[in-house]
Amino acid sequence: MLSQEFINEVKERNDITDVISGYVSLKRSGRNSKGLCPFHSEKTPSFTVYGDTASFYCFGCQAGGDVIGFIRRIENLDYVEAVKFLANRAGMAIPEDGKNDGLTHMRLRIREQNREAGRFFYRSLYSPEGRQALAYFHSRGLTDETIRRFGLGWSPDSWDQLVKHLRELGYKKEEILAADLGYSSRKGGVIDRFRNRVMFPIIDLQGNVVAFGGRKFTEDATGGKYVNTSDTLIYKKTNHLFAMNIAKNSKTRELILCEGYMDVIALHQAGFSNAVAALGTAVTPQQARVLHKYADRVVLSQDGDEAGQKSIARSIPIMKDEGLDVRVLEITGAKDPDEFIRKYGPERFKMLLDGCSNDIEYSILRIGKQYDIDTDDGRLHYLREVCEYLSGLGTLEREVYAGRIADRLGIEKSAVLSQAEASARRRLRAEKEKEFREMANSTAGVGNKINPDRSSHLRGSNAEYKLLAILFRHQDKLPGTVQKLPPEYFVTEFGRRIYEQFIDINQSGQEIDVTQLTPRFSETEGSEIVRILNSDEASAIGDLDTLIDVITTEHFKPKPQEAANLSEDELLMQMSRLKKLKK
Ligand code: CTP
Ligand code: MN
Repeated sequence: MLSQEFINEVKERNDITDVISGYVSLKRSGRNSKGLCPFHSEKTPSFTVYGDTASFYCFGCQAGGDVIGFIRRIENLDYVEAVKFLANRAGMAIPEDGKNDGLTHMRLRIREQNREAGRFFYRSLYSPEGRQALAYFHSRGLTDETIRRFGLGWSPDSWDQLVKHLRELGYKKEEILAADLGYSSRKGGVIDRFRNRVMFPIIDLQGNVVAFGGRKFTEDATGGKYVNTSDTLIYKKTNHLFAMNIAKNSKTRELILCEGYMDVIALHQAGFSNAVAALGTAVTPQQARVLHKYADRVVLSQDGDEAGQKSIARSIPIMKDEGLDVRVLEITGAKDPDEFIRKYGPERFKMLLDGCSNDIEYSILRIGKQYDIDTDDGRLHYLREVCEYLSGLGTLEREVYAGRIADRLGIEKSAVLSQAEASARRRLRAEKEKEFREMANSTAGVGNKINPDRSSHLRGSNAEYKLLAILFRHQDKLPGTVQKLPPEYFVTEFGRRIYEQFIDINQSGQEIDVTQLTPRFSETEGSEIVRILNSDEASAIGDLDTLIDVITTEHFKPKPQEAANLSEDELLMQMSRLKKLKK
C-alpha cells in the first residue's frame, strides 16, 4: 500500500499540464489548456486541462480525472503502477513494501509463461510432428534464419499439450487463463488457446513476448484464419505494433506500416528492417504515438483490397494528428507487399517506396478514380467531392492542389478555390454543431446515467452540483455548511455521496482534491465529478446560502404522488415547514 502522503507528493511533483504536454499538444488559455483528446478521435479540441484543480476532462468522450488517472488511461496501468510511473518521472524513490501487489506478480507470471510458450512453439515447429507447419513457412518463402529471428512456431494438433507443459512447470490454472494461453472447457478443464496453427509471437519494446497470433495453414482446419491473444494484464492490442521491437533499431526515421504478420516478415527478409504492422485494421492514436517515437515519416503499405483502402482512410488523419508525415504506397500487380516482393523482388519494392505519393496526392487520386472526368456529369461530381476534400486541408496545401486540379479539369484555379472555401465553411459549422451536440449530450445524457435521480430532480441536482463546486474551491466553508445542510437533505443519491466524501476527507484533515476523490468512485463517476467541480458557472461564493435553501426546499417538497396521499393535516404541516424555510 502506498501512503496518502506519498501519493500527494507524487501529485505535487508532477504538474498535470506538464505531464499531459508530453502526450498532447496543448494550447494555453489562462490557467487552463486545451488540446485534441488522446482518448478518442476528434478534429476540434474538447480535451481540457484545468491547472487550478489539477484535473482534466474531455467533453467529447467524458474521460476525466487527475494526473494519476491520466497516466492510468494513457499508459494502460493500474492505480499503483501509475503512481510509481509518476514517481519515477519525478525522480522520487519508491517506498519498498516486500509483499507488493498481486497484480505485479501476476504480470510476471504471464510474461514467464509467454516466454515458455514461445520456446515450446518453436521447438514443436522443428519436431517431426511440425513437419507440415515448417513446410508451410518454407512454401511462403521464409528461411530458417527468418523463422528463428521472429521466433515463429507451431502449436501442436492437440487439446492441451501446452497447458500440460505449463502445469508441469508449476503454473496454476488461473495463471494460464490470465495469460490467455488456455481457456476453460465446458467440463471445467483448461484447453489450449492455439491448436494446430503456425504461431507469430508479438514482442514488446523491452523484448518480452506479450501475445501470439496463430494462423491456420491447411484448408481443412477449423476456426477463423487467425486466432489472437485477447487483451491481458500485459497486453493491450490497440497499443502494440508487430515487429516494433526490431524496427525500432533501424537507422532511418521512417517506418513502413503493413497490414499483416506475413507482410512484415517478408519485408524484413528482403532487407526492409523498418516494417511493422498494426494488429487490427486502422491505426489507433496510441500506436501513432509509438510510431512517432521512432519515426517522422510513415509509409502506409496496406493491401490493395477495399478493407485495406478503408483502413488507410481511417489511419491518415490519426497519424497526421500525431504530427507524422504520411506517405501511401500503391501496390499494383500484387495484392499485398508480401506477394509483391515474391513476384517482383526487393528492388522493385524499393522503387515503389521512393515513388510513393504523399497522403494528399493519394487521396486526390482515389477520388479521381471514382469518376469519369471525360463527361460533364463526371467532372462536376469529381469537382464537388475533391473540393470537399480540399476544404479539410491547410491554406497552403489547398493552394497547391487546387492549381493541379484546375489544370487537370481545364478550369480556373480560383473556381476550385472558392468552391473549396465554401466547403470549408460548411464543414466547420457542421463540426462545431456536432461537438456542441456531443457536449450537450455528455452533460445531460451520460450525466443522467451516472446520476439517475437527476432527471426527476433537475433543480435540486443543479443546486447540488453548484454547491459542491463552490465548496471545492472554498473548503473552509464546508463545516459551516454541514451544520445547515446535513447529507440527508441532498435530493440525489449521487450528489449526496460526493458530499459525504467531501466531509470524510475534510474531517481527516486532508485537502479535498481530485486525487483524493476519484479513487472513492468508479471511473465514469470520477470523470463526471471532475466535470461538475470544474464547471464555470459555479464559483460565486455569495450563492452558497441560496443553494443551501434550494436543496433544503427541494428535500422537503412533497413528491407529487405523495402529496395526493397526504391527509389535510399533513399537508398543512408540510406547507408551514416550507414557509419557515423561506424566511
Ligand atoms: N487478422 C486477424 N484475424 C483475421 C484476419 C486478419 O487478426 N481473421 C489480422 C492479422 O494480424 C493479419 C492481418 O490482420 O496478419 C492481415 O490480414 P490478412 O491480410 O488476411 O493476413 P496475412 O497475415 O497477410 O496472411 P496471408 O498473407 O497468409 O493471407
Ligand atoms: Mn497477406
